[in-house]
Amino acid sequence: MEIEVGIITVSDRASKGLYDDLGGPALREASKGHGWHVIAESVVPDEQTDIQRAVREHIAKGCQLVLTTGGTGVALRDVTPEAVREIAIRELPGFGEAMRMESLKITPNAILSRNLAVVVERALVICLPGKPKGAVECLGIVAAAVPHCVEVLQEVPTSC
Ligand code: MTE
Repeated sequence: MEIEVGIITVSDRASKGLYDDLGGPALREASKGHGWHVIAESVVPDEQTDIQRAVREHIAKGCQLVLTTGGTGVALRDVTPEAVREIAIRELPGFGEAMRMESLKITPNAILSRNLAVVVERALVICLPGKPKGAVECLGIVAAAVPHCVEVLQEVPTSC
């Protein structure tokens, strides 16, 4: 099935135009590379209600997969995991576990990341680091499991 993707950049500075959003475009290119179709993109500040609203808006537009970049670290303003958990029907812990395990081979700071994946309504929401390189790397670590997960959530008959 065609996977329609929404990308949300979570950043106080990018949302105020203080610097260019590099994470969103990096994830757009990576999504295309995985054969997915990006249909919505937005930039929001590190505020739980703005993050939650953007996730819901992207799902309402038809995204079966929502990727966020930013706000997964240890800074006091980093609230992306809290925001998505609050609206999730379940968490998929394997995504966060795999991203941290594999990313630790790339940087010791990966242990600081709170990357995660959750289900909101019928969509898979994957929260990735803010650094474009980290976001693309982490997406690459979990990408192979995304099509099956999306199909199951959309109730497309699958062989397993
Ligand atoms: N994971 C990978 N694969 N590559 C990276 O460069 N950067 C790390 C980490 N995960 C990184 C990574 C860094 S520096 C931080 S601080 C955390 O993700 C949290 O990122 P965030 O606060 O930008 O969301």
